[in-house]
Amino acid sequence: MSETFFDRFGGEQAFSTMVRGFYEAIAQDDLIRPMYPDQDLGPAQDRLRWFLEQYWGGPKTYSEQRGHPRLRMRHAQFPITPQARDQWLDHMRKAVDLIRLSPELDEELWEYLVDAAYAMVNTPGPDSGRWAR
Ligand code: HEM
Repeated sequence: MSETFFDRFGGEQAFSTMVRGFYEAIAQDDLIRPMYPDQDLGPAQDRLRWFLEQYWGGPKTYSEQRGHPRLRMRHAQFPITPQARDQWLDHMRKAVDLIRLSPELDEELWEYLVDAAYAMVNTPGPDSGRWAR
């Protein structure tokens, strides 16, 4: 059996470290934090971790708990501008750095995250383009 990206990234421990670091930054972000409907960010943290773990070949907890991801639709209610996307990516870049991947694995994960974040923009606004590729 071949190893999944989930395994190669470092399994549950790596995803937990990354998503925890990311949410610590979201909690301090004045543009993105107010979009979260819940006072407690813990459940949102679990949902993002489950999704990423499943996407990369790990446990299927996300689908069991949430059904089909339909991420663009689930984000439609939040005004995601290019600025929000770039701040989301700033936090995620630091979160990915916490798990110290090899350059090849880092590139694989990071390209996906940039593309996914670009795809989530649903509201126009000024664009720094700092994560454009
Ligand atoms: C680009 C900027 C983004 C912003 C501002 C944003 C914001 C949010 C907000 C406010 C929620 C609702 C929190 C909750 O779950 O209760 C959410 C949910 C979620 N986001 Fe994002 N998001 C962004 C990009 C992304 C990307 C790129 C991904 C995936 C790679 C992602 C994955 C998710 C997932 C899996 C959920 C939970 C969906 C569910 O099952 O309900 N988000 N996001």
